[in-house]
This record gives sequence, C-alpha cells and structure tokens, in this order.
Amino acid sequence: MSGTSVDVEMLDVFKEELRLCKVTSGEVVAVLSGGNDHPDYAQTFMLAAQSFGATTFHVNVLKYGQVKVAGVQGRHALTGNRPAIEMLKQADMVIDLLGLLFSAEQAEIQAAGARILRVMEPFHILKQMFPTEDLRRRVELSRELLIAAKAMRITSPAGTDIRYGLTQYPVISEYGYTDEPGRWDHWPSGFAFTQGTDGDIEGTVVLSPGDILCAFKRYIQSPVKLTVRRGMITAIEGEGTDALLIRNYIDSFNDPRGYAISHIGWGSNERAAWHHFASTGRLASEHVMNALSFYGNVLFSTGPNTELGGSNDTPCHLDIPMRGCSLWLDDMHILDRGNFVRQDLRAPGR
Ligand code: FE2
Repeated sequence: MSGTSVDVEMLDVFKEELRLCKVTSGEVVAVLSGGNDHPDYAQTFMLAAQSFGATTFHVNVLKYGQVKVAGVQGRHALTGNRPAIEMLKQADMVIDLLGLLFSAEQAEIQAAGARILRVMEPFHILKQMFPTEDLRRRVELSRELLIAAKAMRITSPAGTDIRYGLTQYPVISEYGYTDEPGRWDHWPSGFAFTQGTDGDIEGTVVLSPGDILCAFKRYIQSPVKLTVRRGMITAIEGEGTDALLIRNYIDSFNDPRGYAISHIGWGSNERAAWHHFASTGRLASEHVMNALSFYGNVLFSTGPNTELGGSNDTPCHLDIPMRGCSLWLDDMHILDRGNFVRQDLRAPGR
C-alpha cells in the first residue's frame, strides 16, 4: 500500500479483532514495529483503534538496532531502548509486530498492565484462522484441565507412549486475542500448553508420516523413534531422511540442552489447516501458526523452557505437531487418535 491508502477489508478485520480485545474509548493502543515490516498493519491497527475512541501511537525501531545477533529468543531490537520501553508501558494495549516473545522487556510491559497482541502472519492467514469466542472457551478449558492434572500420557498407533509429570510449571493459553490487563496472546493461534516437570518425562515418541517439523516447514516422511529418559532425548532412530535431519539439526547447536523435552499441549483451532504447508505455507512470508494450532494435534517440542519459567535457554527449538495421537490427563481421556473425547472440547458441529 502507499503511505496514505488503507485496505478497507483489512480495516474491517482489524476492527473485529480489536472488538474481541475489548478496545474502548479512552484506552491507549500502541503499535510496535521493526524496520519496514508491516507498515500497512501499523497504520490500519491505529485507524481501527481510533474508530473505538482509543488514542494511538506507533513506536518503530531499527529491526536489528540494539542487538548484533538476530534470531535468538529473548533478544530483539527493543533491548536496551529505555525510552521506547517506557512509551509502551504507558499503553493499555500493545500490538507487537516486532516480536518481543520471552524477553525481559515484554515481561516489564505486561507487568505495567498492558495487554500485548503479537501479529506476524500475512493477512490471508489472519483471516483464515480468525478467532472466535468459542475457541477461547475451549482453549481456556484446556488450560484449566492442564492446571488440574498431575500427569499426561500420550500414545499413538505407531508406538508413541510417553508420560509427562506436570506438577512444576504453569500453563499458557493462546486463542488469538486478549482483553485482560497484562495478558499476552498471538493472533492467530488456538492451543494450550505446559512443560513437563524437570527430570520427570519418560517414554518413547514415534514421529509418523504427516507429523510436521515446523523448523523446516516439512512433513515427516519416514518414522523417527525418539527415546526419552528423565526429560532428555537419549536416542534418535530411523532409516529415513527425517531422523538424519533431526539429529543433524540438534547436533549443529553443539549444546546438549538442545536434547531436552520442551513444551507440550494440544491444538483446538478448527480453522487451522494441517495441510497448509502443502499449499502456500512454504512461502517465506508465512509462519507456522496453522501447524501449531490445527484441531486435535498434539504439539510436542524439544529444547528451551524459558517461556514457562524454566532455566534452559538453548536456541535449539523444534515444534513438532503430531496427528492421530491419544492423550490422557491422569485418568481423563482427552484425545482418541486425534479426536476430542469430551464434547466440551469439540468445536461447534464436530
Ligand atoms: Fe515452541
């Protein structure tokens, strides 16, 4: 878009998003962006917020201005930029187009009371996976069930059988909008997750054709058997390219903490598409929210746990949404081969 024109459809969709976020007259809505990323989003979010009577401003920083190393979680272009951080702390809501994820600066802005909405996907994905109040209900229910559980067991027809102790870490919900002071969310999304207790994750995960290696935007083609002992992967076995890729990728970080088991949970967004990477999802502009959020996936992952308050900050992270798994919380059956067992976890009409 040019500097002055606004896409009317985008304005309508962003207004609907901010309506879900309960933006009201008298609130302050700030947009944070880096470099030339998404100037259309920044302008359109401000127009949408002003249509509700909010006051708006836009903080733009050099994308790599304050850090020399890009792509490291928790470090970003706002690090050390005290005036920009103080500006954002004045807001009731921050639209984060930069990516503050997991950082001390994000925590500080949240602690000041600002709710934060992360937005990074292209517009067609924002529309495709647009959140609903029923998605929020199901993700919040998922979170409550995870909070109450002492242990999780996951199995699959291919041979997965793994147990997570769940007594140590908090549970995070992401449903694609946020209307509570200080709460962070990511549009679009649709899942809840936690982290197994340190040293208390035991068993086997067999990755199967159709499971997704998000880091490579690639579907698993050949089975990969991961052996997990006391929360660490101790063996990666498989005849195909996938086992080689996973082993080579983790080894490349030269960091034994890359073999740790990371967050675990399930996806609930019926508008997210498992097949997405097979259509347009391999475009560089697209991220992985379809894969992380698709309905009934078990989102297995490896590497860091700082997002949930742990101490493992390895940059070696693999998100691996798995299809067709069964899952129990203690004795409560949640998923049966990828289908929600409880009616109250099912999307309307499913
Ligand atoms: Fe992850």
